[in-house]
Amino acid sequence: MRRAAVLFAALAVACSGAISAPGTEELEHGPGGSSGNKPLPFMLSAAHTELYLAKLAPPIVGRVLSKEERERIAREQGGAIRPIVTLWTKEAGFVQAARNMIELKLSVSGARDGIDFGLPGNLAAYLVREEQPWSKIITDDKCRDKDGGELACDTGAPYTAGVLTTRAYLVSRASRFNLTRSSAMLKTFACRVYPQEDTLQPRIPKEKLIPMFRALTLEEQTDERAKSGFGNGSGCYTCHGQFSAHAQLFVKFDEQGKWVKDATGLQDEAGELGRSKNGLMASHFVEPAAAASEQSQVFGKEVSNLAEAAKVITESPVFLECAARNVVEYGLGLTKPPELEPDLLGSLAARARTFGGADPSLGAITIATLTHDDIQKAVVKMLTGTTPQSAAVEATP
Ligand code: HEC
Repeated sequence: MRRAAVLFAALAVACSGAISAPGTEELEHGPGGSSGNKPLPFMLSAAHTELYLAKLAPPIVGRVLSKEERERIAREQGGAIRPIVTLWTKEAGFVQAARNMIELKLSVSGARDGIDFGLPGNLAAYLVREEQPWSKIITDDKCRDKDGGELACDTGAPYTAGVLTTRAYLVSRASRFNLTRSSAMLKTFACRVYPQEDTLQPRIPKEKLIPMFRALTLEEQTDERAKSGFGNGSGCYTCHGQFSAHAQLFVKFDEQGKWVKDATGLQDEAGELGRSKNGLMASHFVEPAAAASEQSQVFGKEVSNLAEAAKVITESPVFLECAARNVVEYGLGLTKPPELEPDLLGSLAARARTFGGADPSLGAITIATLTHDDIQKAVVKMLTGTTPQSAAVEATP
């Protein structure tokens, strides 16, 4: 109950305006009640189940509840959630939802300037239709056309990392020092902004960075360009000590999203801060060989390029936890993934593995998330203003 309350606080913040007046808690006791020493599993009432599933159906499966579903809810109350959500994940509407979700998250769709912005969505749709592991969204070595057919990827890189190595992703996130590409990767697939826990992403040693990013205090700042702007010149290392590691992975992709073997990662002395020559971006690393190399460190592991980095991200617990948060975000139309308690996140990830194996599909992650008691309670509380009581009744002997 406490967990649900905390989760709700986060949901309410994320979608302000969705809260109704408090104080109706007493009116909401369900018919059940636990007696004896074996509490019944939590179950939403039929009315709350319908409210819950009616909210989720349009984004998750692209339609409203069917007559059959509403009848099933009336009969089975909260017990109908799992079978109904499981069937949703087999529908074409769910495939489309996966496409929408990834296109929204990455702000990519359509085609322009000869770039196919549909590639990220195509891969998402393919993985869901084929019930493949969702981790492949950043590790798959194939690109897909809109029907799921194999397609050559378009960056020219000698490796592939799912949506990350599509020009659609790289072009829409091109920026100085490759910061936007790296922050979008971490935000979307690890639900992390900067700074991150040091335990997750150890910082690159200061002396390896260009002087501007070493500063923790104003006194330490030696670069005049940083003194005037960015956080009054201090604290850079706190975030950029981590950013540097992620940005390095993109050092060979130019602003057109093409992989350039000879990229140096060196600052163009005649150009804007953070830019290298020929539409490439500068590295955080000071040593020329390091600046030109795609080798880096992600979540404490040495990696030789973006594809290896993506694999490390998917092997971390944060990947599944973030995928579950993204499902809640998308299902409820929030603008960012809700803050969920670490316990709940861990339990969503563990459930996803129970339903879908060690490397679960988006379908399994969705079922695991939407059938969790605490998610149900929090969403119903968000919709009604009141924490729902369990409608489970003990079977009469
Ligand atoms: C709290 C974390 C944090 C700290 C501290 C921080 N930055 Fe950043 N910095 C960011 C983020 C986040 C971005 C934007 C990344 C993106 O584009 O998504 C950014 C962007 C930048 C950019 C690129 C701006 C552009 O227009 O593309 C530069 C340059 C930069 N920071 C320099 C610095 C310097 C120098 C310092 C210290 C004075 C500093 N930052 C301190 C997080 C931080």
